[in-house]
Amino acid sequence: MRTIIEPFRIKVVEPIRMTSREERAALIRQAGYNPFRLKAEHVLIDLLTDSGTGAMSTHQWAGVMEGDESYAGARSFFRFEEAVRGIFGHTHVIPTHQGRASERLLCRAVVKAGDVIPGNTHFDTTRANIEDTGAEARDMVIPEGLDPDLDHPFKGNIDLADLERCIAEVGRERVPFVLITVTNNSGGGQPVSMANLRGTRAICERFHIPLLLDAARFAENAFFIKLREPGYADKSPREIACEMFALSDGAVMSMKKDAFGNIGGVISLNSDEWAEKIRTALILTEGFITYGGLAGRDLEALAIGIEEILDEEYLKYRIASTAYVGNHLAQAGVPLLKPIGGHAVYINGRRFCDHLTDDKFPGWALSVALYEHVGVRACEIGNVMFGTQDRATGAWNWPALDLVRLAIPRRVYTQSHMDYVVEGITELYQHRREIRGLRFVHRPAVLPHFTATFELV
Ligand code: F0G
Repeated sequence: MRTIIEPFRIKVVEPIRMTSREERAALIRQAGYNPFRLKAEHVLIDLLTDSGTGAMSTHQWAGVMEGDESYAGARSFFRFEEAVRGIFGHTHVIPTHQGRASERLLCRAVVKAGDVIPGNTHFDTTRANIEDTGAEARDMVIPEGLDPDLDHPFKGNIDLADLERCIAEVGRERVPFVLITVTNNSGGGQPVSMANLRGTRAICERFHIPLLLDAARFAENAFFIKLREPGYADKSPREIACEMFALSDGAVMSMKKDAFGNIGGVISLNSDEWAEKIRTALILTEGFITYGGLAGRDLEALAIGIEEILDEEYLKYRIASTAYVGNHLAQAGVPLLKPIGGHAVYINGRRFCDHLTDDKFPGWALSVALYEHVGVRACEIGNVMFGTQDRATGAWNWPALDLVRLAIPRRVYTQSHMDYVVEGITELYQHRREIRGLRFVHRPAVLPHFTATFELV
């Protein structure tokens, strides 16, 4: 059989509220032309993020009922610890409420002003947490990773020559760790190869620098390795994931992605010294070391979710269903980042809206038009999120790519939802010249995309 089906049945449904185009035009205007400011109930199909938006399984819901809510030493913690350690393999497993809490705790514990953290491409909260300590987050993805038209199996790879040069230039004392994000979200959901991880490991070992993974989408990365890297076709996703983690000294993870969690995160480490520092800080802001800001029921659901995500049938469906959306859009001529990522399809905003200059925010304008046209909410990862303005001259510095991400929640939407999305975007593409640009009304200094407001120009 060629047809790949959703490997689950639907037991509970959540109604979607239909809206008219006129309603949506008013709603997005009231939201300051910022899709983040919309009420979710006004969104038909929500592709803003795949984070915390997944559907839990019957087993996870059963686990919720099993949650042990004891303050210290809860059974659910030990189940969580065992599940994470069984895959990650590090000594210390520290729960947190989500990925950025892990990043903050890690950065506060081991990063200092003047340090440099090399990575393939740091996610925005990771970058913000690194910069908050006065350190520099330095992206060094391979050049192929920056070319939206190039088809390359592992566009998330870090440039090993750049990494080596960076460490030699900065000095190993100022590089507390190297962080590789799997898959590379900000670079288009592109995977990192095992060979690249091995190469990174070798450099880190030579300079005695720990290698950490941002493991938010580790299972999707493992499955891409299985599909694309010679020698891995016969290995299970779990074996591949274990091999990836075995090359690392630790990991931070948002468990709202590849653990099917609606909330949750983890820090996994081999270093006793770092773990001690982090646990001390954890108690100040997150909670006791066996719950880290989560309820026992959350820990339980995550322990089950992180096992379920490695199911090969699920991963086969996941990667194929994301590619389904991408391939249909590509056939309609919609300019996409190639190849299609694991959790999302990325539209090339600059090319879609080639009548808009960078200062009119083409990708953002597309995301606004997409909501207005068909009620689909997507997320710009481009000029608004990463554009910086020189304080003195007012000149803008634009990121290499201005993308609009259609992130696909896990186990939530069916193929007909995706057919609707494809049809809507195809229609919009035919009328793309009517999409109007925007300018800032209010631009917050940090992570502007979340709360900024705009007006049409
Ligand atoms: N690292 C990566 C690679 C991420 O994609 C995210 C979140 C985080 C860290 C932070 O985790 O949200 O649990 O605090 N990405 C979401 C997204 C928000 O939409 O891509 P968090």
